[in-house]
Amino acid sequence: MTVYGEGKMSLLAKRVELLDTENAFKIGPYIRAIEEQGKEVIKCNLGEPDFPIPQFIKEEVKRQIDLDNTHYCDPQGVLSLRKAIAKHFSETRGIQATADRVVIFPGAKPPIGLCQQTYCDPGDEIIYPSPGFPIYESFITYVGAKPIPVHLKEEENFTLSGKDIASVITDRTKMIFLNFPSNPTGGVAPLEKLRDIADVIRRQCSQEVRVFSDEVYEHILFDGSKHHSIISCPGMEKITVLVSGVSKSFSWTGGRIGWALFPTVEEAEVFRNLNINYFSCIPPYNQEGARIALESPLSQEAISHMINTFQERRDLVVDGLNSIKGVLCQKPKGAFYVFPNISRVCENLGIIDAFNSLPAAIRQNTSPSTLFQMFLLFEYQVATMDRKSFGRIGAENLHYLRLSIATDTESLREGLKRIAMASLDREGFWRFFKKGEHLY
Ligand SMILES: Cc1ncc(COP(=O)(O)O)c(C=O)c1O
Repeated sequence: MTVYGEGKMSLLAKRVELLDTENAFKIGPYIRAIEEQGKEVIKCNLGEPDFPIPQFIKEEVKRQIDLDNTHYCDPQGVLSLRKAIAKHFSETRGIQATADRVVIFPGAKPPIGLCQQTYCDPGDEIIYPSPGFPIYESFITYVGAKPIPVHLKEEENFTLSGKDIASVITDRTKMIFLNFPSNPTGGVAPLEKLRDIADVIRRQCSQEVRVFSDEVYEHILFDGSKHHSIISCPGMEKITVLVSGVSKSFSWTGGRIGWALFPTVEEAEVFRNLNINYFSCIPPYNQEGARIALESPLSQEAISHMINTFQERRDLVVDGLNSIKGVLCQKPKGAFYVFPNISRVCENLGIIDAFNSLPAAIRQNTSPSTLFQMFLLFEYQVATMDRKSFGRIGAENLHYLRLSIATDTESLREGLKRIAMASLDREGFWRFFKKGEHLY
């Protein structure tokens, strides 16, 4: 390595080590390797609806390409889409959103890191739910801020109360992340809970704090539940960044269209400039497809079809999991995940003892639920996600899995059968563990 003066120059900046990841993308190569051996993997790891994009959206995107709407466009997002978003947010949240406060991004994910970079200085604290979407935690130390997880409790249906938030707010709090319906628990927040949280934030935080409300699953709700947003609560529009997109509601993860409504035009302009620096602009033909998704009366039917299918699968999977000895699973009210507690399975198979017997360096990278996840994947060919994929801090002794129900019913039935067999296979687990090959 070249040495300049006294200091050593390393290839990568130190901050690179601080960036974590989203494991849902990381286990893809494992799955492919297993499939290459001719084995069929049941994929309950995927965070994307298994439906095609609704036909009318496809047609609009094709039409836009034929119109040669394929060039650079407004870095903030095309006005027609920003207007449609402002209208949708105004009508559904009871606020007065305007197109000049909306910015389009390549998905609902980029605003997470961009907001942390933009609003937080080193040492500022960021509150976020755990379990929660991994990118909230993943970016925090990278931008020099301090992660403050709020642990969602199973006995409170994985929702948050004002009291939970109140106990972690300090004078260094700069951002608060909320996500309902939630990935990975499927928990939704009733309006009273959101009011309670909003009251605490109004009382304890300055106007410079930003609430990041990730509502990317806003349409995917079961049992007739209604979507509520913290931005509708008194005083919240002035401090909330409201985020959503087409990936989940319109089954269009590859379209890479997400958006955020900012509290002020000035803030939106900062993000417009970040877009110029990072992306220049987002494909205009896809933005027009997203506009039609928001505006067309056909959307309702497409979304209802998807929700009904998810709800049937949810019932099948929750009942199936609860009939497996040692598994306890709540019925989620939204999104398309279930989040079973597998503590008893970990005990019954001896996984906790196995974990405790590992050298500290390996223990750091794994957990009992990771060992069960890997056992399921490599020995029973069912792909799931472990608890620590949804926030590592303080998750060592929490034994859960996330299963996605965005997989056809027959595969889900087969997956349940395999999980039931694996949950009884103590000998098989120890054989797998002793090979020492895939412990994380
Ligand atoms: C809670 C949450 N926010 C944001 C995203 C990112 O969505 P997108 O694919 O639009 O970037 C996801 C995707 O899984 C998510 O679950």
